[in-house]
Amino acid sequence: MTTDDTFSFIDGEGLDTATAYRLIVGCVVPRPVAWITTVDDTGRVNAAPFSSYNYVATSPPMLAVNIAARAGDGAIKDTARNLRSNGEFVVNVATEATMEAMHGSAQEFPPEVSEAEALGIALLPSRKVKPPRIAASPVQMECRLDQVVTLGRGVNTLFIGEVVAFHLSRDIFDGSRVDSVKMRPIARLGGPYYAALGEIIHRPMLQKPPGGEGSAAKG
Ligand SMILES: Cc1cc2nc3c(=O)[nH]c(=O)nc-3n(C[C@H](O)[C@H](O)[C@H](O)COP(=O)(O)O)c2cc1C
Repeated sequence: MTTDDTFSFIDGEGLDTATAYRLIVGCVVPRPVAWITTVDDTGRVNAAPFSSYNYVATSPPMLAVNIAARAGDGAIKDTARNLRSNGEFVVNVATEATMEAMHGSAQEFPPEVSEAEALGIALLPSRKVKPPRIAASPVQMECRLDQVVTLGRGVNTLFIGEVVAFHLSRDIFDGSRVDSVKMRPIARLGGPYYAALGEIIHRPMLQKPPGGEGSAAKG
């Protein structure tokens, strides 16, 4: 039988940043990976992955990503600086096929180095925002920044953006629904681990909350 003795208790209040990070990225799994492209004031393209990320609204569609200060020196990351400067970004969904390039783009390149150029990441122009899309990603969402929320003691900042355009590869989109299985998304776990989709489990939707997730789903 499960009793409270089988659990470790950790007081969440007052944790140091490194411990809190280690715990939370192990507990909140699997996380989707937003491979984000931005541009700096000279038009240089920056690409970096972020897994503290999700959709947060549907009317209009909105995404949120948490960008931390750099662990070593507390410096602002290039993506955060570009977002604050011009408010435009593209979220490219990271997949099994793009995993190595996505992972490589997390290296701390100096701001004057474009990850796209350094890693040979092929790009496509966007329609409504300046940052380009990553060609190999089957889902590219052009976004405009809506809100910037500084969290807690200021290490983390939540950037909330509106999706102003979706680009969906015809390989995974039939004109109505996105085939998430065919997309082969990659997820981040705690530590240096990723996961691919495992077994797919189907259950009919039991309720249809108005406008909520699953409202249009049929069992
Ligand atoms: C899969 C993956 C997910 C990541 N998620 C985040 C995240 O959610 N927030 C964050 O601040 N850094 C995250 N990082 C680290 C950034 O990608 C890394 O700091 C990168 O150098 C930032 O690049 P930039 O300075 O070009 O913006 C992640 C790294 C990887 C490999």
